Amino acid sequence: MKTFYIETFGCQMNAHDSEKVVGTLLTQGYTQVETPAEAELVLYNTCSIRDKAEQKVFHRLDQFKHEAGKGSNGKRKTYGVLGCVAQQEGEKIFERAPHVSLVAGSASYGRLPELLVQLEKGDRRVTGLSFDRDDAFETEFTRRTNPHRAYVTIIEGCDKSCAYCVVPFTRGPERSRASESVMNELEQLTGAGYTEVQLLGQNVNSYRDPSPAGWDFATMLERAGQVPGMRRVRFTTSHPRDFGKEIINAIDRTETLCNHVHLPVQSGSSDVLRRMDRQYTRDEYMRRIEWMKKARRDIAITTDIIVGFPGETERDFDDTLKLIDGVEYDAMFIFKYSKRPNTAALAYEDHIPEEEKTRRLMELQERQRGIQLRRNAGYVGLTEHVLVEGYNQATGQWIGRTSQHKTLNFIDAALPAPSQERTLVGEYLDVLVTRASPNSLAGERSAHV
Ligand code: SAH
Ligand code: SF4
Ligand code: F3S
Repeated sequence: MKTFYIETFGCQMNAHDSEKVVGTLLTQGYTQVETPAEAELVLYNTCSIRDKAEQKVFHRLDQFKHEAGKGSNGKRKTYGVLGCVAQQEGEKIFERAPHVSLVAGSASYGRLPELLVQLEKGDRRVTGLSFDRDDAFETEFTRRTNPHRAYVTIIEGCDKSCAYCVVPFTRGPERSRASESVMNELEQLTGAGYTEVQLLGQNVNSYRDPSPAGWDFATMLERAGQVPGMRRVRFTTSHPRDFGKEIINAIDRTETLCNHVHLPVQSGSSDVLRRMDRQYTRDEYMRRIEWMKKARRDIAITTDIIVGFPGETERDFDDTLKLIDGVEYDAMFIFKYSKRPNTAALAYEDHIPEEEKTRRLMELQERQRGIQLRRNAGYVGLTEHVLVEGYNQATGQWIGRTSQHKTLNFIDAALPAPSQERTLVGEYLDVLVTRASPNSLAGERSAHV
């Protein structure tokens, strides 16, 4: 019996890639185990978006450097690095961590079975690093971890060239999947009981159907929302430059499309945006926000911001503060700029000191906290429709997710806790919102609801 262990870092794309890798390994006769100690094959699916993320995998590998060759259970132990660090560092990983014998980026997972054969033969330096295969890696063997919500890749890679970002190097050029193949997968998913899908791509709204049908992203969204049995469709991540009004029209027209858009702005200063090579100005971004605010549906808007990009002045930062006051985002991820290999911004001058980045991050967080509390308070007294995603033993609350992607923890008078016969997980329910905090809502269902 061949055993493997996999740990995944990074974004949803990596999480979903791991589901495909696991499915492939299972069909190759491997069994998944829960700890690296038990496994013959130890895999890390890595992220290199910021330096800290990249360092994590080298820490992990260092922990095991003495276990190479033979594991504690006496069996031969093999280490593999997958994902974005693998693609970025390539064969250099073999030098830095000599006990690693497989290095493969996401564009090579279609070749995994043959790479495994090489490993099993005892090859010590097996690589999958080319972007030659222009098809997105899909497999019918994907082993999904969540029984209700499924990730579905519709486009891989990124053709933009944001000055700070490694993704174009780690994931290669954009490759869209044929619409027919996506639709077949969606139908299989609803057939298997899934009710929610999240369409994935680093630049999901650049989707362009390569088949003669020629769907654009808005068409893909609408068709996905019309699949029988589909209750919720989400998508991430959208690039503002390619974000057209037709996407909002699709959301307005199609109830199953969730009313949530993640639209990373990165900075509120047009000057910084230009130096980031984001290909939009502050005004162009704000126009998209206005479209959403005028939509028929109450669309939740979330974003990513980078603080301390090289040359970011106090004034630039102030423009970001003003922008977030104006938009009133429902949630925000804030990152300190991190220097990345191969990127254009490496050559920029005026790098911002670490303490100053931290100060800006904390100031933004503080400001955003108040905004989120205010926005969430607006839901108190309303009834929200949630998909129940879990149960929290510690608090005795069910965990629900609203269409706007807000967490709504609630007490159910009729079923205070899951029992052997019954759970609410996977059900869609109406919940009365009774309290709000910056990061979540709380509510209840009385016995007669
Ligand atoms: N494709 C998405 C973003 C993917 S990366 C998009 O275009 O918006 C997720 C987020 O990480 C980015 O939105 C950005 O805010 C952040 N990020 C990317 N590179 C970074 C870097 N070098 N330093 C700090 N944050 C970074
Ligand atoms: Fe990176 Fe920019 Fe591509 Fe997003 S659009 S993945 S930030 S290069
Ligand atoms: Fe990280 Fe690669 Fe995703 S760098 S954020 S895992 S695309």
